[in-house]
Amino acid sequence: MARIIAISSSKGGVGKTTTAVNLGASFAVAELSTLVVDLVTDGGVADAFGFRRRRVAGISMAGEVLPEKLLQKTNLEYLDLIFSDLYDTEDEERFSRRLLADRSLLGNFLSQLKERYSFILLDCPPSLGTTAYCALGAADSVLVPVQCEPHSLKSVSAILKTVRRYNHNSGRELGFEGFLLTMYDLRTSLSEIICERARHLLGNMLFYTIIPRNVRLAEVFLRGKPAVLMDVNCPGSRAYMRLAQEILERREMG
Ligand SMILES: Nc1ncnc2c1ncn2[C@@H]1O[C@H](COP(=O)(O)OP(=O)(O)O)[C@@H](O)[C@H]1O
Ligand SMILES: [Mg+2]
Repeated sequence: MARIIAISSSKGGVGKTTTAVNLGASFAVAELSTLVVDLVTDGGVADAFGFRRRRVAGISMAGEVLPEKLLQKTNLEYLDLIFSDLYDTEDEERFSRRLLADRSLLGNFLSQLKERYSFILLDCPPSLGTTAYCALGAADSVLVPVQCEPHSLKSVSAILKTVRRYNHNSGRELGFEGFLLTMYDLRTSLSEIICERARHLLGNMLFYTIIPRNVRLAEVFLRGKPAVLMDVNCPGSRAYMRLAQEILERREMG
């Protein structure tokens, strides 16, 4: 049965989509069947694989058509995608209203796919609004990318509070898969300082793996390929493959 991980943060531009795509590809390279689900209006997951989004057969169809109809295969045998077909605020609000009317919609939809995959990664919007909140309801854990810059640590307390509130309201004990430092820049001491603060704040909730700032990762949306398909040995690919390994090891130990 798949482990469903919501990749979430209140902040945009911190590496959520980059993580969903490259972590998904890393699991797939390790022959672990993985599904990446795009819940975001900008539809970055499709761009990252060079697909043009279709008006239909996206996430807003969840619950209306058979899940298989929404799956998009990729060049990686073990990786499938579900696109976002949310293009603007109106689409997002319509989808939010559906989720509010039936809070178990996303969970029920994904539960039909759970047996096919080892991991399902949910690329969440840059807010902690309805969609992100309902993604928590469908998830087994939360992975939070934290960009190595001072303001990002503020978003850490926002997601800690949100998950605490979610657990209080739902009676669940949803936990964190981990907090992931992203865009670490070796040339500046700022990244080092943020890294130390994050370690102090988060202890072992912080992944040991750190994602460096790497041009190959920045090129993913431009070239329509996850980094492992461009250069398996670049620092970005290696970091995401280490992260996949760390997640597997943590699960074995837990
Ligand atoms: N490790 C990295 N190295 C270089 N560029 C990165 C890295 N991670 C993300 N980026 C770039 O930063 C921008 C924001 O990343 P993205 O994954 O879209 O963030 P989010 O989904 O949180 O909004 C994108 O242009 C992406 O290519
Ligand atoms: Mg994104």
